[in-house]
Amino acid sequence: MAIGTSLSHVFPLGSRLNQRGRVEVGGCDTIELAREFGTPAYVIAEDDLRARARAYLQAGRDAGHEDFHVVFASKAFPCTAVLTLFAEEGLWCDVASGGELHLATGAGFPPERILMHGNAKSIPELQMALASKVALIVLDNFDEIERLARLVEGGAPRQGVLIRATPDVRGDTHEKISTGQADSKFGFSMADVPKAIERVRAIDGLALQGIHAHIGSQIMELDPFRRIAPALQEIGDGVGGFSVYDLGGGLGVAYTAEEHPPDIEDWVVAVLEAARECGIAQAARLLVEPGRALTANAGVTLYTVQSVKRNVRTWVAVDGGMSDNMRPMLYGARYEAHVADRFPESADAAGLVPCVLAGKHCESGDVIVREALLDDPKAGDVIVTPATGAYGYAMASNYNGVPRPPVIFCKDGDARVVVRRERYEDLTARDVR
Ligand SMILES: Cc1ncc(COP(=O)(O)O)c(C=O)c1O
Repeated sequence: MAIGTSLSHVFPLGSRLNQRGRVEVGGCDTIELAREFGTPAYVIAEDDLRARARAYLQAGRDAGHEDFHVVFASKAFPCTAVLTLFAEEGLWCDVASGGELHLATGAGFPPERILMHGNAKSIPELQMALASKVALIVLDNFDEIERLARLVEGGAPRQGVLIRATPDVRGDTHEKISTGQADSKFGFSMADVPKAIERVRAIDGLALQGIHAHIGSQIMELDPFRRIAPALQEIGDGVGGFSVYDLGGGLGVAYTAEEHPPDIEDWVVAVLEAARECGIAQAARLLVEPGRALTANAGVTLYTVQSVKRNVRTWVAVDGGMSDNMRPMLYGARYEAHVADRFPESADAAGLVPCVLAGKHCESGDVIVREALLDDPKAGDVIVTPATGAYGYAMASNYNGVPRPPVIFCKDGDARVVVRRERYEDLTARDVR
């Protein structure tokens, strides 16, 4: 690939090959980054995060909807620097636990832009949400309604709430990230929604503002998303309408170059058009909750090759794995990988070796990329896996006592550590002797 060429859409915006023929992210040479900060490392192009946030907001403005808000599903990348950036860009924030709420408020989200989710919120978590004065608590089940009713008794002002429905709209995605089907651990079935609405309306301390649905994640077509608004409108119309409709997240991203999800703009247009056609857009506040579509492609992970073994296949083992990216092991997620200073012209370029890119953990399933094509991989090479900006850092662990990687923000050639690498002392920091 020629110097200066933009890399594929899987890489952060602005990524390219630099004068030395090395992958550059946010204007920073990935091999220099590996040298300076060590590997594994999450490298994030700051401008890419901002561009995607702005794309959502601009698409909403272009569609002419005044009361449209983009709620970052913080579970995708629950890191203070990422949250602060999105707070600055004017997004709202979806938290799904007390810990995520702590991160969101600490990062600068005002409570009136925070929504609290979760299918098993504890009493302390609900108390924390009330004390923080979050804009909305999204109610998931009858037990939670009763728990919250007891907590708000006699309290003022009334806490705003939404009801989470499972409208039986399915996207074509992995069973483990499908959530909108009737038989789901999340939300109320359509049969139970009227009962939930009636009960919530009878509780003085709660103000039922609207309804929510999230049909699942990594959905690559627009059609399932178009079906959410009419399903929620039907519920709203049955009870005199709502002031808030939350249409969830779930837009898929490209993890490999062959994948081509809809653009953010097209997704917003599809969702808002469906809302307008069924009549909810005109009078209500509309919320959407993207997670991965805001962060996945903004990030890459850098690894260093530790060994190359030619058994039946060629096994390339790196210094990270399931402790920094659980997704391939959890639901067979596919990624691509490249040697940072030997990026191929194309997938069928001469000299590419089919390899298994394996992690360092004591599990045979610890494989990051099953069918990687690497140019003559050798111990010491820096490997780049793109599209690791969502649910990687979020699900990281210390399996095998591996310290979790740093997060490095890159912009215009400057790199700054926004989360430091864990140290061995962090592994014993919680010990009680
Ligand atoms: C309620 C809710 N909203 C939004 C999201 C974000 O999904 P995605 O990252 O696929 O956009 C999730 C993901 O689990 C979710 O559960």
